[in-house]
Amino acid sequence: MKKKSFMKKFIVLSLLLAWGSARAEMPRERITLDYGWKFHLGDIPFPVVTGHNASYSHAKAGTANGAAAIDFNDSSWRPVDLPHDWAIELPVSRTNNLSQGFRPRGLGWYRRTFALDAADEGKQIELQFDGVSTFCSVWVNGIIAHRNWCGYTSFYIDITPFAKFGQATNTIAVRVDADAQEGWWYEGAGIYRHTWLVIRHPIHIETDGVFANPVRQPDGRWTIPAEVTLANSGTNTAEVEIESTVLDAGGKEVSRAQTKQTIAPFDHPAAKYEIAVTSPTLWSVNQPYLYSVRTVVRAGSDILDELTTRCGFRTIRFDADKGFFLNDQPVKLKGTCNHQDHAGVGTAMPDSLWEWRLRKLKEMGANAYRCSHNPPPAEFLDLCDSLGMLVMDENRNFNTTDEYQRQLEWLVRRDRNHPSIILWSVFNEEPMQGTRQGYEMVRAMAAVVKKLDRTRPVTAAQSGAMNAPWNASKAAEVAGFNYQPGGYDSYHKANPTKPITSSEDTSAVMTRGEFTTDKTNFILGSYDTEHQGWGLTHREAWKRIAERPFVAGGFVWTGFDYHGEPQPLGWPATASSFGCMDLCGFPKTAFYIHQAQWIESRPVLQLVPHWNWPGREGQPVKVMALSNAEKVRLNLNGRFIEEKAVDKYAMCSWEVPYEPGRLEAVAINDGKEVARYAVETTGVPAALKLIADRPGLAGDGRDAQPITVQAVDDHDRPVPTANNFVRFELTGPGAIIGVGNGNPLCHEPEKGDSRSLYNGLAQVIVQTTRGAQGTLHLKAIAEKLKPAEISISIE
Ligand code: GAL
Repeated sequence: MKKKSFMKKFIVLSLLLAWGSARAEMPRERITLDYGWKFHLGDIPFPVVTGHNASYSHAKAGTANGAAAIDFNDSSWRPVDLPHDWAIELPVSRTNNLSQGFRPRGLGWYRRTFALDAADEGKQIELQFDGVSTFCSVWVNGIIAHRNWCGYTSFYIDITPFAKFGQATNTIAVRVDADAQEGWWYEGAGIYRHTWLVIRHPIHIETDGVFANPVRQPDGRWTIPAEVTLANSGTNTAEVEIESTVLDAGGKEVSRAQTKQTIAPFDHPAAKYEIAVTSPTLWSVNQPYLYSVRTVVRAGSDILDELTTRCGFRTIRFDADKGFFLNDQPVKLKGTCNHQDHAGVGTAMPDSLWEWRLRKLKEMGANAYRCSHNPPPAEFLDLCDSLGMLVMDENRNFNTTDEYQRQLEWLVRRDRNHPSIILWSVFNEEPMQGTRQGYEMVRAMAAVVKKLDRTRPVTAAQSGAMNAPWNASKAAEVAGFNYQPGGYDSYHKANPTKPITSSEDTSAVMTRGEFTTDKTNFILGSYDTEHQGWGLTHREAWKRIAERPFVAGGFVWTGFDYHGEPQPLGWPATASSFGCMDLCGFPKTAFYIHQAQWIESRPVLQLVPHWNWPGREGQPVKVMALSNAEKVRLNLNGRFIEEKAVDKYAMCSWEVPYEPGRLEAVAINDGKEVARYAVETTGVPAALKLIADRPGLAGDGRDAQPITVQAVDDHDRPVPTANNFVRFELTGPGAIIGVGNGNPLCHEPEKGDSRSLYNGLAQVIVQTTRGAQGTLHLKAIAEKLKPAEISISIE
């Protein structure tokens, strides 16, 4: 076997290992390019071109110079795998931008090479970058191939004409400019999402070219109005058949339909046909049933291309008086807004961490997610489909000119098959929202969206100007309001036919495990009393929404803390405190408040604070019960304190003279106990404890999981005030890819093998290496404490 051919086979084999489900003889191949990059931090300025000959030749295809040149020597560059966020690797410093979490960003370069099998010559070859923060230029084989102007949109580069096959090597060079900034939050830096190499027959389905989203017709029949956009990089006009087969979750065929299409070289026709499906199982938040649509392009008996997309059968409707309906049932949107970073990894989030975060939000009772303020990775939306999370998908840049229209079109084309998506948001809090110009821009952008998808309404997250003669909501189908609870009623009265939702609310702040506010020291108490001037407490914000059936729901700012936008705004805090969960996803009081407000299917009961208050004996300590029960009874050390009715929004609280021991709450409905919860005074930390999220990890070099680190006393009780410094030792085929403790004031590195606990907790994120087998062993060590060990089997 020739060397290059062997390389290609190796890549394909790795892919098979990585995904486990691919077949060897696929008509198209989608191969990960995440591995084997070289990285250089900082810019490498292009050499100054002087003289005629150099000027003449540098302007030619294939002759890019400097670090973009084919033969540039990158041997001293650092090897990295993607996703990669270089900003999270760098130390915080108060001279850096606060909104970016005081991390430096700057410029960086990436390079890698790849080979293509000689047998693939003539096929269509595409490179896909899912997300690069922020601006970038990409050269392939010395040719400038793309310039990206948004850190949240993917780009696809057709390199078919200049790709090299067989013995030759292809070179990719990427110059990333992360000095450019698109947000007021932490944005990471670098190629922070996946990259792919796609090899297809010259006659193929374009990327994002299958639109197959089920629709219930007015007469009640379900159909999938399929639209398949084809491309032809070959030399001949062909007559092809396009067929889509709908398969249920068990893989059983339920319907199929086909059509014929003539396609000339370089043409992009869209074949349209309808697939009827009888009595489908519906997709919902609680039963997110998914079908797949296998679309095949054939010439005679030859399969030229094949692509499987997923879809869900559900109806959505926003009613101006009654809010949101899913499958004709009212569903109040219990949502959170979120950015896209996590402790330890920044924006380079493994897919499995996205999954973990979604599970935590569901555990909190959330059924909706706003991708604030930008498109998320595709894998995240797949997870929302399969876990049952309703999504407001949001565009980044409010702009109607060509490049930005292209970004919006990309968003809708990529995402329009996801049953989870219920709203397209074209902006967040734009200063032009109350002007004629702002209205016209929303109108133009809504038209761009509607051309590609008529099945979901367009909204815009407006933070004021509700009653301005020209305002964004007049051009949106669903009025989205950020922080306008005082205006809900008057807006509804003045616009009785316009559905409305809160697109963002709350902006309350708290520090996990802290119960006394000390703003000069950036500590925010966790009794749900602190919020921004424009926001409300968690309890009050939800009350305003819940009590108004015409408000479809709300999106709490935020589900998770994020790097940047620290509260109060300033050093030494480097991360926000808005989350219901901290940077690691550890619950704060707000998490339990939302459980109590949002979960109806089971009793919820939680007490705050913890019960370790040495030195405060006899003094009153405020105790809050978070519960969805009618009443909560409180006992201290076996003594009855008091029983109180629970206000379903405000919850209930007591002032309890502190006495060490056991503080117990009993939740009561209809006079019967439905739940019991206690906090106990603990001893000093005696041992460490490691708690895995899952017993195993896939040995694919991608799978990762957060492991909780705790200090426990000699009765195995977690010590809520422990701040011990912990070191980690990982053995086996994996790596620690990040550490955190959720403290926005902690400046310890997020990469490395140690971390202090913060109020009893820290987190280590471990990932397997590619092709890993066996077991990972993690050990946690702290002075004077019994170490902890955990094993994770590699599946
Ligand atoms: C909103 C804004 C968010 C965040 C939040 C903090 O106005 O949309 O991105 O900045 O305020 O309260």
